[in-house]
Amino acid sequence: MQLSIPLSALLLRISAMAVLPVFLNVFAEHQEVFQLPPSGPRCPLPVPNSTASFWITTPGANPLAKEGSEGPLTADVDIAIIGSGITGVSAAYHISRLLAETGDAAKPLKVVILEARDFCSGATGRNGGHLTANIFQDFAVYSSRFGTDDAKRAIALETRTVSEIVKIANESGKTDALDLVSGGRNHLLFTDAEVAEADLDYETAKKAGVDLTDVEFLTKEQVQERYGASYPSVRTPGYNIWPLKLVSHLYTTAANSSALSLALHTNTPVTTLMPIPASSSAGSARRWNLTTPRGPISASYVLHATNAYASHLLAHMHGPAGIVPSRGQIIATRAAVPPSVLTTSAYTGNEGFEYWFPRPVEAGQEKPLVIIGGGREATKPKFELYVSDDSVVNPGVGEALRKFLPVVFPGKYEEGQEPELEWTGIMGYTQTGDPFVGPVIDPANPGAHKGQYISAGYTGHGMPRAFSCAEAVAQMIVADIQGKEWEVPDWLPRHHLTQNRLNE
Ligand SMILES: Cc1cc2nc3c(=O)[nH]c(=O)nc-3n(C[C@H](O)[C@H](O)[C@H](O)COP(=O)(O)OP(=O)(O)OC[C@H]3O[C@@H](n4cnc5c(N)ncnc54)[C@H](O)[C@@H]3O)c2cc1C
Ligand SMILES: *[C@@H]1O[C@H](CO)[C@@H](O)[C@H](O)[C@H]1NC(C)=O
Ligand SMILES: *[C@@H]1O[C@H](CO)[C@@H](O)[C@H](O)[C@H]1NC(C)=O
Ligand SMILES: *[C@@H]1O[C@H](CO)[C@@H](O)[C@H](O)[C@H]1NC(C)=O
Ligand SMILES: *[C@@H]1O[C@H](CO)[C@@H](O)[C@H](O)[C@H]1NC(C)=O
Repeated sequence: MQLSIPLSALLLRISAMAVLPVFLNVFAEHQEVFQLPPSGPRCPLPVPNSTASFWITTPGANPLAKEGSEGPLTADVDIAIIGSGITGVSAAYHISRLLAETGDAAKPLKVVILEARDFCSGATGRNGGHLTANIFQDFAVYSSRFGTDDAKRAIALETRTVSEIVKIANESGKTDALDLVSGGRNHLLFTDAEVAEADLDYETAKKAGVDLTDVEFLTKEQVQERYGASYPSVRTPGYNIWPLKLVSHLYTTAANSSALSLALHTNTPVTTLMPIPASSSAGSARRWNLTTPRGPISASYVLHATNAYASHLLAHMHGPAGIVPSRGQIIATRAAVPPSVLTTSAYTGNEGFEYWFPRPVEAGQEKPLVIIGGGREATKPKFELYVSDDSVVNPGVGEALRKFLPVVFPGKYEEGQEPELEWTGIMGYTQTGDPFVGPVIDPANPGAHKGQYISAGYTGHGMPRAFSCAEAVAQMIVADIQGKEWEVPDWLPRHHLTQNRLNE
């Protein structure tokens, strides 16, 4: 169903609006940080004592937390995956499926996932839980920069990722176990500039033939009536999910496959990567020596699934041409009204800086817990870019988050209420917002990383992308092992590929 509303009907009467506790229209200022040389040294390893996220600390939610952290280390593998977030685990999942189809069943490949901290304790274990595809947002800028075909592929990547994940949840009968909620997403437009941009994106996408049947523009009166906030909104389909539970399910599925022998070592940071001289590899094709505090690991292929932390092991990824760590902060706060009044939906607002959704209520609860993140702009001009310590929260960001919902939804949240939980997590930002997917290439030294691959840099928007980007690199690695040519899938934007990113 599509409502056709003239742009003028969406424009706000600014003076009538309550004063929001966040800066508006600051995305351009955010991007200016990418014009500066890198601030400080490259990203350190993840700090050991990270803050407690709702997803991770809920009792029973992370059975794999300490898996393989003690005992013997898997010291010789075909493929070493560094990072146990949605990227690393999805890659193992896809490798297992690809090998089940095309591998040599008599010789299952040896694959290991190495994780610096507990299982899935990076961004994936600390995010907002939104699994929502952008289906026309940013189309105007993206298509003018990278062409209409890539702009359409960016949409295809996201819609396919979401539907693949929903399918996995459906087919395994786990939609409830994974907390998959389908409530759509309201993107609230706080300023006339945001309304104009949404309109431009919509019109540009329409001209390019993008399917917009599922997009609905709502006036502020309609939003007020249905959701209780007086701002216009763009409604699109969308889901929420418990990301750690999804990733645990993917891991268990891959580990159960007989097509590969999969090991997981948590609390095992990779500190350096060194080439193994051909003379000492004793006939095997092991190329890389991964150092960990528990001993070395030899691998033929290495996948960097380290997202924000990529530059720790890949110095050339440090700085604005690579992946910039960016600290995100979230609070979990109780709404003041029951779910029937709140209405199930995910929300984003303020150019995406803020994102929130009421969780499904559990037995015995009357009021939903709302997970809300954002507020980085309270720290402008730095926006928490180049900040990689998720063991502390930023009080200024916390203040913006605490004030936000009571102002946007009058009467539905209690002013001055303290959250039940507050945490941070580290995102991997790139200048264009696109992840790097493919063989690792250092422009100053091409060929120096043979056998190393990367899928990282989702810029705070990884849930609808990482699973498929990991599939693309899994295909590349398996094709290389099998001596086959890799074909770029239709749904992968060409601009994501590392070989197309050498001049940024
Ligand atoms: C606060 C916050 C809110 C977010 N909200 C959303 C949202 O609502 N929707 C959305 O789509 N996206 C969101 N994101 C982004 C999303 O979480 C990420 O894009 C996605 O989780 C990235 O997955 P990943 O597996 O690539 O990285 P991660 O989950 O960060 O995994 C990388 C792992 O690598 C490990 N690691 C790093 N270096 C090493 C090393 N040298 N040795 C061993 N292990 C190492 C880390 O410990 C980490 O576990 C949010 C992110 C944050 C932080
Ligand atoms: C982690 O340790 C640092 C330094 O000792 C401290 O500042 C921080 O508060 C700790 N964080 C947590 C969550 O324990
Ligand atoms: C998942 O299942 C629901 C309900 O059975 C169905 O409506 C939906 O289309 C399914 N989604 C996918 C992607 O399979
Ligand atoms: C593992 O695989 C076996 C046989 O293929 C299947 O019966 C079992 O349900 C699987 N277990 C999990 C946890 O996926
Ligand atoms: C890997 O590096 C370690 C030192 O960190 C060394 O002891 C070991 O011999 C190396 N292994 C190979 C195969 O080069």
